[in-house]
Amino acid sequence: MRVVVIGSGAREHALCVALSSDPAVSALACAPGNAGTRAIAEPLQVDVPDRDAIAALAVAWRADLVVIGPEVPLVAGAADAVRDAGIACFGPSEQAAQLEGSKSFAKHVMTAAGVPTARSWPVGGPAELETALDEAAASAPGTPYVVKDDGLAAGKGVVVTTDRAAAVAHGRSVLDAGGAVLVEEYLDGPEVSLFALSDGTTVVPLLPAQDHKRRDDGDAGPNTGGMGAYAPLPWAPPGLVEEVRTTVLQPTVDEMARRGEHFSGLLYAGLALTSRGIRVVEFNARFGDPETQVVLPLLETPLAGLLYAAATGTLGEQPPLRWRDGAAVTVVVAAPGYPEAPRTGDPVTGADGEGVLHAGTALAADGSVISAGGRVLAVTAVGADLAAARQAAYERVAGVRLAGAHWRTDIALAAVEGRIVVP
Ligand code: AMP
Ligand code: GLY
Repeated sequence: MRVVVIGSGAREHALCVALSSDPAVSALACAPGNAGTRAIAEPLQVDVPDRDAIAALAVAWRADLVVIGPEVPLVAGAADAVRDAGIACFGPSEQAAQLEGSKSFAKHVMTAAGVPTARSWPVGGPAELETALDEAAASAPGTPYVVKDDGLAAGKGVVVTTDRAAAVAHGRSVLDAGGAVLVEEYLDGPEVSLFALSDGTTVVPLLPAQDHKRRDDGDAGPNTGGMGAYAPLPWAPPGLVEEVRTTVLQPTVDEMARRGEHFSGLLYAGLALTSRGIRVVEFNARFGDPETQVVLPLLETPLAGLLYAAATGTLGEQPPLRWRDGAAVTVVVAAPGYPEAPRTGDPVTGADGEGVLHAGTALAADGSVISAGGRVLAVTAVGADLAAARQAAYERVAGVRLAGAHWRTDIALAAVEGRIVVP
Protein backbone atom coordinates (compact mmCIF):
# COMPACT_ATOMS: atom_id res chain seq x y z
CA MET A 1 0.00 0.00 0.00
CA ARG A 2 1.31 3.47 -0.97
CA VAL A 3 0.43 5.93 1.80
CA VAL A 4 0.83 9.71 1.87
CA VAL A 5 0.44 11.71 5.09
CA ILE A 6 -0.58 15.37 4.76
CA GLY A 7 0.85 17.81 7.31
CA SER A 8 4.12 18.88 8.88
CA GLY A 9 3.93 18.51 12.66
CA ALA A 10 4.96 16.02 15.32
CA ARG A 11 1.56 14.34 14.91
CA GLU A 12 2.44 13.63 11.28
CA HIS A 13 5.93 12.45 12.29
CA ALA A 14 4.29 10.05 14.79
CA LEU A 15 1.93 8.82 12.07
CA CYS A 16 4.88 8.28 9.73
CA VAL A 17 6.80 6.32 12.41
CA ALA A 18 3.82 4.00 12.96
CA LEU A 19 3.08 3.62 9.24
CA SER A 20 6.72 3.00 8.31
CA SER A 21 6.84 0.02 10.68
CA ASP A 22 3.74 -1.54 9.08
CA PRO A 23 4.77 -4.28 6.61
CA ALA A 24 1.67 -3.51 4.51
CA VAL A 25 3.11 -0.09 3.60
CA SER A 26 5.26 -0.38 0.47
CA ALA A 27 5.91 3.36 0.06
CA LEU A 28 5.41 6.29 2.42
CA ALA A 29 5.42 10.02 1.72
CA CYS A 30 4.75 13.09 3.85
CA ALA A 31 3.62 16.38 2.33
CA PRO A 32 5.14 18.77 3.13
CA GLY A 33 6.63 17.01 6.20
CA ASN A 34 9.55 18.34 8.21
CA ALA A 35 13.22 17.60 8.86
CA GLY A 36 12.25 14.53 10.90
CA THR A 37 9.74 12.92 8.56
CA ARG A 38 12.27 13.09 5.68
CA ALA A 39 14.26 10.27 7.25
CA ILE A 40 11.36 7.81 6.91
CA ALA A 41 8.93 9.32 4.38
CA GLU A 42 9.54 10.79 0.94
CA PRO A 43 9.08 14.59 1.16
CA LEU A 44 6.50 15.97 -1.27
CA GLN A 45 5.61 19.62 -1.79
CA VAL A 46 2.04 20.75 -1.27
CA ASP A 47 0.16 23.82 -0.16
CA VAL A 48 -1.68 22.21 2.80
CA PRO A 49 -4.89 24.29 2.78
CA ASP A 50 -5.36 23.66 -0.98
CA ARG A 51 -7.83 20.75 -1.38
CA ASP A 52 -7.30 20.39 -5.12
CA ALA A 53 -3.51 20.42 -4.76
CA ILE A 54 -3.75 17.60 -2.20
CA ALA A 55 -5.94 15.51 -4.53
CA ALA A 56 -3.64 16.19 -7.50
CA LEU A 57 -0.60 15.14 -5.49
CA ALA A 58 -2.32 11.92 -4.38
CA VAL A 59 -3.07 11.06 -8.02
CA ALA A 60 0.41 11.97 -9.28
CA TRP A 61 2.11 9.93 -6.54
CA ARG A 62 -0.30 7.01 -7.18
CA ALA A 63 -1.35 6.87 -3.50
CA ASP A 64 -3.61 4.07 -2.29
CA LEU A 65 -4.40 5.92 0.95
CA VAL A 66 -4.19 9.59 1.94
CA VAL A 67 -4.04 10.38 5.68
CA ILE A 68 -4.88 14.00 6.43
CA GLY A 69 -3.31 15.23 9.67
CA PRO A 70 -4.48 18.80 10.33
CA GLU A 71 -7.97 20.27 10.57
CA VAL A 72 -7.53 23.12 8.10
CA PRO A 73 -7.49 20.99 4.91
CA LEU A 74 -10.32 18.81 6.27
CA VAL A 75 -12.54 21.84 6.86
CA ALA A 76 -11.57 22.97 3.35
CA GLY A 77 -12.86 19.70 1.88
CA ALA A 78 -9.55 17.97 1.10
CA ALA A 79 -10.94 14.51 1.96
CA ASP A 80 -13.83 15.02 -0.48
CA ALA A 81 -11.40 16.08 -3.21
CA VAL A 82 -9.20 13.00 -2.65
CA ARG A 83 -12.20 10.64 -2.65
CA ASP A 84 -13.59 12.34 -5.78
CA ALA A 85 -10.28 11.46 -7.43
CA GLY A 86 -10.95 7.78 -6.62
CA ILE A 87 -8.43 7.42 -3.79
CA ALA A 88 -9.17 6.21 -0.25
CA CYS A 89 -8.81 8.96 2.32
CA PHE A 90 -8.57 8.85 6.10
CA GLY A 91 -10.39 12.00 7.16
CA PRO A 92 -13.95 13.31 7.31
CA SER A 93 -15.75 15.23 4.59
CA GLU A 94 -15.96 19.02 4.67
CA GLN A 95 -19.46 18.77 6.15
CA ALA A 96 -18.55 16.16 8.76
CA ALA A 97 -15.44 18.16 9.76
CA GLN A 98 -17.81 20.90 10.91
CA LEU A 99 -17.92 18.92 14.17
CA GLU A 100 -14.56 20.61 14.74
CA GLY A 101 -14.92 23.65 12.47
CA SER A 102 -18.02 25.04 14.15
CA LYS A 103 -18.60 24.72 17.87
CA SER A 104 -22.27 25.66 17.41
CA PHE A 105 -22.74 22.91 14.78
CA ALA A 106 -21.15 20.44 17.22
CA LYS A 107 -23.58 21.62 19.93
CA HIS A 108 -26.56 20.99 17.61
CA VAL A 109 -25.36 17.49 16.83
CA MET A 110 -24.77 16.73 20.51
CA THR A 111 -28.20 18.01 21.48
CA ALA A 112 -29.87 15.91 18.79
CA ALA A 113 -27.84 12.83 19.80
CA GLY A 114 -28.35 13.30 23.55
CA VAL A 115 -24.60 13.64 24.13
CA PRO A 116 -23.70 15.36 27.43
CA THR A 117 -21.92 18.68 26.96
CA ALA A 118 -21.66 22.09 28.62
CA ARG A 119 -24.74 24.30 28.41
CA SER A 120 -24.08 27.13 25.99
CA TRP A 121 -25.41 30.51 24.94
CA PRO A 122 -24.69 31.59 21.36
CA VAL A 123 -23.78 35.25 20.91
CA GLY A 124 -24.58 36.98 17.63
CA GLY A 125 -23.55 40.51 18.59
CA PRO A 126 -22.17 42.75 21.35
CA ALA A 127 -25.58 43.32 22.97
CA GLU A 128 -26.13 39.58 23.41
CA LEU A 129 -22.69 39.09 24.96
CA GLU A 130 -23.56 40.75 28.29
CA THR A 131 -26.90 38.90 28.46
CA ALA A 132 -25.23 35.56 27.79
CA LEU A 133 -22.64 36.21 30.52
CA ASP A 134 -25.45 37.19 32.94
CA GLU A 135 -27.34 34.00 32.18
CA ALA A 136 -24.24 31.82 32.53
CA ALA A 137 -23.42 33.48 35.87
CA ALA A 138 -26.99 33.09 37.11
CA SER A 139 -27.11 29.40 36.20
CA ALA A 140 -23.96 28.56 38.17
CA PRO A 141 -23.05 31.37 40.59
CA GLY A 142 -19.38 31.73 41.47
CA THR A 143 -17.99 29.68 38.58
CA PRO A 144 -15.64 31.16 35.97
CA TYR A 145 -16.83 32.56 32.66
CA VAL A 146 -16.04 30.50 29.56
CA VAL A 147 -16.00 32.52 26.31
CA LYS A 148 -15.18 30.79 23.01
CA ASP A 149 -14.47 31.72 19.43
CA ASP A 150 -16.98 29.61 17.46
CA GLY A 151 -14.56 28.80 14.63
CA LEU A 152 -11.15 27.14 14.23
CA ALA A 153 -8.65 28.87 16.52
CA ALA A 154 -5.75 26.41 16.94
CA GLY A 155 -6.46 25.91 20.65
CA LYS A 156 -6.21 29.62 21.41
CA GLY A 157 -9.84 30.72 21.04
CA VAL A 158 -11.04 30.04 24.59
CA VAL A 159 -10.84 32.28 27.64
CA VAL A 160 -11.75 30.84 31.06
CA THR A 161 -11.78 33.59 33.67
CA THR A 162 -13.51 34.91 36.79
CA ASP A 163 -12.78 38.45 35.56
CA ARG A 164 -15.93 39.75 33.89
CA ALA A 165 -14.03 42.50 32.05
CA ALA A 166 -11.61 39.95 30.55
CA ALA A 167 -14.53 37.75 29.48
CA VAL A 168 -16.22 40.70 27.79
CA ALA A 169 -12.96 41.82 26.15
CA HIS A 170 -12.35 38.36 24.63
CA GLY A 171 -15.92 38.12 23.33
CA ARG A 172 -15.72 41.62 21.83
CA SER A 173 -12.39 40.93 20.12
CA VAL A 174 -13.79 37.82 18.43
CA LEU A 175 -16.96 39.67 17.37
CA ASP A 176 -14.92 42.67 16.14
CA ALA A 177 -12.86 40.31 13.98
CA GLY A 178 -16.11 39.14 12.35
CA GLY A 179 -16.32 35.87 14.32
CA ALA A 180 -19.15 34.31 16.32
CA VAL A 181 -18.97 33.69 20.06
CA LEU A 182 -20.26 31.01 22.40
CA VAL A 183 -20.56 31.49 26.18
CA GLU A 184 -20.46 28.18 28.04
CA GLU A 185 -21.13 26.65 31.40
CA TYR A 186 -17.88 26.04 33.30
CA LEU A 187 -16.85 22.37 33.51
CA ASP A 188 -14.87 21.23 36.56
CA GLY A 189 -12.84 18.03 36.76
CA PRO A 190 -9.86 16.57 34.89
CA GLU A 191 -9.74 16.54 31.09
CA VAL A 192 -9.37 13.46 28.92
CA SER A 193 -8.67 13.16 25.20
CA LEU A 194 -10.20 10.05 23.71
CA PHE A 195 -9.61 9.31 20.02
CA ALA A 196 -11.78 6.94 18.04
CA LEU A 197 -11.45 5.56 14.54
CA SER A 198 -14.72 5.69 12.63
CA ASP A 199 -15.77 4.49 9.21
CA GLY A 200 -19.08 6.32 9.41
CA THR A 201 -20.85 3.45 11.17
CA THR A 202 -18.47 1.55 13.44
CA VAL A 203 -16.50 3.33 16.19
CA VAL A 204 -13.23 1.95 17.60
CA PRO A 205 -11.84 3.93 20.56
CA LEU A 206 -8.07 4.16 21.13
CA LEU A 207 -6.41 4.63 24.55
CA PRO A 208 -7.34 7.69 26.62
CA ALA A 209 -4.64 10.36 26.93
CA GLN A 210 -4.19 13.69 28.65
CA ASP A 211 -2.78 16.86 27.13
CA HIS A 212 -1.18 19.76 29.05
CA LYS A 213 -2.48 22.89 27.35
CA ARG A 214 -0.91 25.67 29.45
CA ARG A 215 2.59 26.87 28.72
CA ASP A 216 4.09 26.63 32.20
CA ASP A 217 4.50 24.16 35.04
CA GLY A 218 1.52 23.89 37.36
CA ASP A 219 -0.86 24.76 34.52
CA ALA A 220 0.17 28.43 34.60
CA GLY A 221 0.64 30.78 31.67
CA PRO A 222 -1.28 31.09 28.41
CA ASN A 223 -3.02 28.29 26.52
CA THR A 224 -0.93 26.67 23.80
CA GLY A 225 -1.45 24.01 21.16
CA GLY A 226 -0.29 21.50 23.83
CA MET A 227 2.99 21.22 25.78
CA GLY A 228 3.04 17.49 26.44
CA ALA A 229 0.88 14.43 26.94
CA TYR A 230 0.76 10.95 28.42
CA ALA A 231 -1.21 7.76 27.99
CA PRO A 232 -2.89 5.74 29.33
CA LEU A 233 -4.47 7.40 32.40
CA PRO A 234 -3.82 5.46 35.63
CA TRP A 235 -6.51 7.51 37.40
CA ALA A 236 -9.27 6.93 34.83
CA PRO A 237 -12.38 5.30 36.31
CA PRO A 238 -12.86 1.68 35.19
CA GLY A 239 -15.15 1.49 32.21
CA LEU A 240 -14.43 5.06 31.10
CA VAL A 241 -13.65 4.19 27.47
CA GLU A 242 -16.74 2.00 27.11
CA GLU A 243 -18.92 4.68 28.71
CA VAL A 244 -17.61 7.32 26.31
CA ARG A 245 -18.09 4.97 23.37
CA THR A 246 -21.73 4.32 24.21
CA THR A 247 -22.75 7.78 25.46
CA VAL A 248 -20.64 10.07 23.25
CA LEU A 249 -18.84 8.52 20.28
CA GLN A 250 -21.40 6.09 18.85
CA PRO A 251 -24.39 8.45 19.27
CA THR A 252 -22.45 11.24 17.53
CA VAL A 253 -21.42 9.04 14.60
CA ASP A 254 -24.98 7.72 14.35
CA GLU A 255 -26.43 11.25 14.36
CA MET A 256 -24.02 12.32 11.61
CA ALA A 257 -25.07 9.26 9.56
CA ARG A 258 -28.74 10.11 10.14
CA ARG A 259 -27.99 13.54 8.66
CA GLY A 260 -26.37 11.90 5.63
CA GLU A 261 -22.94 13.24 6.66
CA HIS A 262 -21.14 10.04 7.61
CA PHE A 263 -18.15 10.80 9.82
CA SER A 264 -15.20 8.71 8.69
CA GLY A 265 -11.74 9.36 10.05
CA LEU A 266 -10.69 10.26 13.57
CA LEU A 267 -13.27 11.51 16.03
CA TYR A 268 -11.46 13.13 18.94
CA ALA A 269 -13.58 13.74 22.02
CA GLY A 270 -12.17 16.34 24.41
CA LEU A 271 -13.90 15.46 27.68
CA ALA A 272 -14.19 16.78 31.22
CA LEU A 273 -14.89 14.27 33.99
CA THR A 274 -17.04 16.58 36.08
CA SER A 275 -18.82 16.17 39.40
CA ARG A 276 -22.00 15.67 37.36
CA GLY A 277 -20.52 13.08 35.00
CA ILE A 278 -18.75 13.02 31.64
CA ARG A 279 -19.15 16.14 29.50
CA VAL A 280 -17.83 16.84 26.01
CA VAL A 281 -15.68 19.99 25.97
CA GLU A 282 -15.15 19.85 22.22
CA PHE A 283 -14.87 17.55 19.25
CA ASN A 284 -12.00 17.51 16.83
CA ALA A 285 -12.07 15.80 13.47
CA ARG A 286 -8.45 14.60 13.39
CA PHE A 287 -5.72 13.11 15.55
CA GLY A 288 -4.78 15.40 18.46
CA ASP A 289 -1.35 16.86 18.89
CA PRO A 290 0.53 16.01 21.18
CA GLU A 291 -1.68 13.06 22.29
CA THR A 292 -1.03 11.13 19.06
CA GLN A 293 2.65 11.02 19.96
CA VAL A 294 1.82 8.93 23.06
CA VAL A 295 -1.12 6.85 21.79
CA LEU A 296 0.46 5.48 18.60
CA PRO A 297 3.68 4.11 20.18
CA LEU A 298 1.48 1.92 22.42
CA LEU A 299 -0.55 0.49 19.51
CA GLU A 300 0.64 -2.92 18.37
CA THR A 301 -1.95 -3.45 15.64
CA PRO A 302 -0.45 -2.26 12.31
CA LEU A 303 -1.79 1.24 11.64
CA ALA A 304 -2.15 1.35 7.85
CA GLY A 305 -4.73 -1.44 7.70
CA LEU A 306 -6.80 0.25 10.40
CA LEU A 307 -6.78 3.65 8.69
CA TYR A 308 -7.58 1.99 5.36
CA ALA A 309 -10.49 0.11 6.98
CA ALA A 310 -11.82 3.37 8.43
CA ALA A 311 -11.48 5.02 5.02
CA THR A 312 -13.27 2.22 3.19
CA GLY A 313 -16.10 1.33 5.56
CA THR A 314 -14.70 -1.99 6.81
CA LEU A 315 -13.75 -1.16 10.39
CA GLY A 316 -16.38 -3.59 11.71
CA GLU A 317 -14.43 -6.49 10.14
CA GLN A 318 -11.21 -5.68 12.04
CA PRO A 319 -10.12 -7.78 15.03
CA PRO A 320 -9.89 -6.00 18.43
CA LEU A 321 -6.95 -3.62 18.76
CA ARG A 322 -3.81 -4.86 20.46
CA TRP A 323 -1.92 -2.54 22.85
CA ARG A 324 1.44 -2.96 24.43
CA ASP A 325 1.74 -2.80 28.23
CA GLY A 326 3.22 0.27 29.86
CA ALA A 327 2.84 3.96 29.22
CA ALA A 328 4.14 6.76 27.00
CA VAL A 329 5.06 10.38 27.71
CA THR A 330 5.83 13.20 25.28
CA VAL A 331 7.40 16.54 26.20
CA VAL A 332 7.14 19.44 23.77
CA VAL A 333 10.30 21.49 23.34
CA ALA A 334 9.14 24.96 22.30
CA ALA A 335 10.94 27.88 20.69
CA PRO A 336 11.64 31.04 22.69
CA GLY A 337 8.60 33.29 22.53
CA TYR A 338 6.07 30.46 22.02
CA PRO A 339 3.08 30.78 21.96
CA GLU A 340 2.88 34.56 21.42
CA ALA A 341 5.79 35.19 19.04
CA PRO A 342 8.05 32.18 18.54
CA ARG A 343 11.53 32.79 17.19
CA THR A 344 12.47 30.48 14.32
CA GLY A 345 15.61 29.74 12.30
CA ASP A 346 17.78 28.55 15.21
CA PRO A 347 19.99 25.45 14.94
CA VAL A 348 18.54 22.28 16.53
CA THR A 349 20.95 19.50 17.48
CA GLY A 350 20.54 16.10 19.09
CA ALA A 351 17.18 15.70 17.39
CA ASP A 352 17.83 12.50 15.44
CA GLY A 353 17.57 10.05 18.34
CA GLU A 354 14.83 7.54 18.97
CA GLY A 355 11.56 9.08 20.12
CA VAL A 356 12.51 12.61 19.10
CA LEU A 357 9.56 13.60 16.93
CA HIS A 358 9.89 16.76 14.88
CA ALA A 359 7.18 19.40 14.96
CA GLY A 360 8.41 22.76 13.64
CA THR A 361 11.73 21.92 11.99
CA ALA A 362 13.21 22.40 8.52
CA LEU A 363 16.50 21.70 6.79
CA ALA A 364 18.82 24.67 6.22
CA ALA A 365 20.68 25.00 2.89
CA ASP A 366 23.67 23.16 4.38
CA GLY A 367 21.48 20.23 5.44
CA SER A 368 21.44 21.04 9.15
CA VAL A 369 18.20 21.11 11.17
CA ILE A 370 16.74 24.50 12.13
CA SER A 371 13.63 25.50 14.04
CA ALA A 372 10.67 26.46 11.86
CA GLY A 373 7.72 26.75 14.26
CA GLY A 374 6.66 27.40 17.84
CA ARG A 375 6.53 23.79 18.93
CA VAL A 376 9.84 22.45 17.64
CA LEU A 377 10.14 18.87 18.95
CA ALA A 378 7.92 16.38 20.79
CA VAL A 379 10.33 14.19 22.73
CA THR A 380 8.66 10.86 23.43
CA ALA A 381 9.44 7.69 25.35
CA VAL A 382 7.68 4.49 26.29
CA GLY A 383 8.24 2.81 29.67
CA ALA A 384 7.03 -0.05 31.83
CA ASP A 385 4.85 2.44 33.71
CA LEU A 386 4.16 6.16 33.65
CA ALA A 387 7.01 7.04 36.00
CA ALA A 388 9.51 5.12 33.84
CA ALA A 389 8.19 6.64 30.61
CA ARG A 390 8.39 10.12 32.14
CA GLN A 391 11.96 9.64 33.28
CA ALA A 392 12.99 8.29 29.87
CA ALA A 393 11.33 11.17 28.03
CA TYR A 394 13.12 13.80 30.15
CA GLU A 395 16.46 11.99 29.66
CA ARG A 396 15.89 12.37 25.92
CA VAL A 397 14.97 16.05 26.33
CA ALA A 398 18.34 16.59 28.01
CA GLY A 399 20.03 15.42 24.82
CA VAL A 400 18.54 18.06 22.50
CA ARG A 401 19.85 21.58 22.01
CA LEU A 402 17.92 24.64 20.86
CA ALA A 403 18.94 28.12 22.04
CA GLY A 404 16.33 29.67 24.35
CA ALA A 405 14.09 26.61 24.25
CA HIS A 406 11.52 26.03 26.99
CA TRP A 407 9.52 23.01 28.05
CA ARG A 408 7.39 21.99 30.99
CA THR A 409 9.12 19.88 33.62
CA ASP A 410 5.88 18.45 35.04
CA ILE A 411 4.34 16.48 32.17
CA ALA A 412 2.49 13.47 33.67
CA LEU A 413 3.80 14.37 37.14
CA ALA A 414 0.43 14.84 38.85
CA ALA A 415 -0.69 11.47 37.49
CA VAL A 416 2.51 9.74 38.64
CA GLU A 417 2.08 11.26 42.10
CA GLY A 418 -1.58 10.23 42.28
CA ARG A 419 -2.78 13.84 42.54
CA ILE A 420 -5.48 13.67 39.85
CA VAL A 421 -8.91 13.18 41.36
CA VAL A 422 -12.15 12.67 39.52
CA PRO A 423 -14.81 14.62 41.46
P1 AMP B 1 -11.32 24.06 23.34
O1 AMP B 1 -10.75 24.99 22.31
O2 AMP B 1 -12.81 23.99 23.32
O3 AMP B 1 -10.61 22.75 23.31
O4 AMP B 1 -10.92 24.61 24.76
C1 AMP B 1 -9.55 24.72 25.14
C2 AMP B 1 -9.43 24.52 26.62
O5 AMP B 1 -10.22 25.49 27.34
C3 AMP B 1 -9.98 23.19 27.09
O6 AMP B 1 -9.06 22.17 26.97
C4 AMP B 1 -10.29 23.48 28.54
O7 AMP B 1 -9.10 23.44 29.32
C5 AMP B 1 -10.78 24.90 28.50
N1 AMP B 1 -12.24 24.89 28.40
C6 AMP B 1 -12.98 24.88 27.28
N2 AMP B 1 -14.30 24.84 27.55
C7 AMP B 1 -14.41 24.82 28.90
C8 AMP B 1 -15.51 24.78 29.81
N3 AMP B 1 -16.78 24.80 29.38
N4 AMP B 1 -15.23 24.76 31.12
C9 AMP B 1 -13.95 24.76 31.57
N5 AMP B 1 -12.87 24.80 30.77
C10 AMP B 1 -13.08 24.83 29.45
N1 GLY C 1 -4.29 18.37 21.85
C1 GLY C 1 -5.10 19.44 21.41
C2 GLY C 1 -5.44 19.39 19.98
O1 GLY C 1 -4.91 18.60 19.23
O2 GLY C 1 -6.28 20.17 19.59
